[in-house]
Amino acid sequence: MKNIKLSIDKAFGFVSEQNVAGYKAQVAAANGALHSGTGKGSDFLGWLNLPSSIDETQFSDLENTAKRFRENCEIVVVIGIGGSYLGAKAVIDSLSNSFDWLQTERKSPVVVYAGQNIGEDYLYELQEILKTRPFGIISISKSGTTTEPALAFRLLKTQLEEQQGKAAAQKLIVAVTDKTHGALRTLATQEGYKTYVIEDNIGGRYSVLSPVGLLPIAVAGFDIRQLVKGAVTMESKCGQETRFEENPAAQYAAVRNELYKNGKKIELLVNFHPKLHLIGEWWKQLYGESEGKENKGIFPASVDFTTDLHSMGQWIQEGERSIFETVISVKESNHTKIFPHDQNNLDGLNFLAGKRVDEVNKMAELGTMIAHIDGGVPNLKIELPKLNEYYLGELLYFFEKACGISGYLLGVNPFDQPGVEAYKKNMFALLEKPGFEAETKVIKARI
Ligand code: PA5
Repeated sequence: MKNIKLSIDKAFGFVSEQNVAGYKAQVAAANGALHSGTGKGSDFLGWLNLPSSIDETQFSDLENTAKRFRENCEIVVVIGIGGSYLGAKAVIDSLSNSFDWLQTERKSPVVVYAGQNIGEDYLYELQEILKTRPFGIISISKSGTTTEPALAFRLLKTQLEEQQGKAAAQKLIVAVTDKTHGALRTLATQEGYKTYVIEDNIGGRYSVLSPVGLLPIAVAGFDIRQLVKGAVTMESKCGQETRFEENPAAQYAAVRNELYKNGKKIELLVNFHPKLHLIGEWWKQLYGESEGKENKGIFPASVDFTTDLHSMGQWIQEGERSIFETVISVKESNHTKIFPHDQNNLDGLNFLAGKRVDEVNKMAELGTMIAHIDGGVPNLKIELPKLNEYYLGELLYFFEKACGISGYLLGVNPFDQPGVEAYKKNMFALLEKPGFEAETKVIKARI
């Protein structure tokens, strides 16, 4: 069985191979601290051995719940924000037909999202669409108190109850939340919803391989066993016993920290495959929330190529030399499209006749890499043999493990997100939430 493959050699020349190898001891210590639970944020390490701990009972339970949604719903609304929706959306988008919503003979419900914004028009338009279609809700919030999803849930729960009646609605709502705390847990218990637990020791951005990600992914019709199988492979490949030279998470953590030390403050996650756009969004949350603190951390950004070569390409080629790229490359497309010959050749494209479209894409990828290296942008590459559940599972766990190690190398706690609270406090004060009276006074005096 092939695996995803990390190549870091195109970073050398910008940083030395020796210096990267010099991280071996630090990386081993960081990986060891994760496994022994002796590092910062050690009460949030439930994701570390999560893939290999998922058993048959859990898989069957998730699949049965997914089946209920699949049999009864045309649309399933996944409600959540940040780590409570990005992982599921990233995997579902990566594996779905690009024109999914236009398919007439559907085998799976359309999965849509709410609670990831507070857009009034967004929610209005969603509710209009749901008026004429049988739908279900998966409400995901670890804390059970996050405003955005709570607001969306109240609106959609009310709508579902009005359309289906309370008893039927109860069977079409599943909550994924904390074991005991939070308003969503209280509500789910009182209303008798089916629930899944987000364990205390799994933070939102590390939760894609828990029911947070697995349930929506199964509802969308994808094979969660293969996804987890891929993650299990990476769990062992990135383990603390694996030598630095064979451990992709260790190498990625080391090289990006060395690049950062050498002035490369921005990392661009690049894809040449439009379906991977959301993997970039998920990755940005994982690395941004994990490392951006104490006035340090690489700024994670993402681009879709070749699309963004026609917008961001200029900046990447010739702007401030503070960036490096990590390119996700998919070796084999799932479909074949051969470029046709044209008798008249008026568009001058006969030099491509007989070639696969993916060959053109691959040459764009190679040409871009060479151009960017020439322009002073170090390139790392992660190659997926194919876009399927198994390799995505490998990719997700690889990034999680590397993020934990990388955060420790940087000297921060990669499992907290204290900075996320600041806007919430101001928003509650401005909305005059009970309990925020003093803050309301202070903030109103400032505006
Ligand atoms: O990674 C995180 O912890 C956050 O991004 C959370 O996932 C996000 O804030 C949503 O929190 P909750 O699931 O408690 O609603």
